[in-house]
Amino acid sequence: MTEQFFKILLIGDCGVGKSCIMVRFTEESFNESYISTIGVDFKVRTVEVNSNPVKLQIWDTAGQERFKSITRNYYKGSQGILMVYDISNMDSFENVKNWSKEVEDYSDLNLSKFLIGNKCDLEDERSVTTEMGEELGKELGIKFFESSAKTNNNIEEIFYELAKDIY
Ligand code: GTP
Ligand code: MG
Repeated sequence: MTEQFFKILLIGDCGVGKSCIMVRFTEESFNESYISTIGVDFKVRTVEVNSNPVKLQIWDTAGQERFKSITRNYYKGSQGILMVYDISNMDSFENVKNWSKEVEDYSDLNLSKFLIGNKCDLEDERSVTTEMGEELGKELGIKFFESSAKTNNNIEEIFYELAKDIY
């Protein structure tokens, strides 16, 4: 039996935790220091969906504006997209609409999209409520999750749900 292969893209403002989400899921580790991504990077992990192995190739893109013309090229051919914001950063939440527009303009029509409010361990610094995330998810017609790459909250669930959704 041939192994299935899904390409998944992480997008969102700089500093929201895209690289940490990828590293947490593929290497089970977390780094407190911030090293902003240059261009794109990817890592793989194989999961099981309905008892079948599925190789997830996870592409992590740079959030910085100056890389947009590069990262756009990676939208096509992706079967799944995680649009990430930081629950302690209102700007990153408000920018999700712009990221969603990028997805509409540059990705294939038929793909699975999830909205992710990351850093949910920072409850004291929260500025985007869970309800606001849920509302935006509804408005965009996509599933919504909160996560923490730091505490590993919901990271496994998100990738498994996405793999099931694509399958
Ligand atoms: P760009 O590559 O610049 O687009 O940023 P990014 O979205 O990849 O952010 P990155 O994963 O590098 O994380 C930015 C900072 O946030 C780092 O200092 C991380 O340690 C921190 N961080 C990431 N995820 C979490 C989280 O879930 N909780 C907390 N408390 N900090 C996090
Ligand atoms: Mg990064």
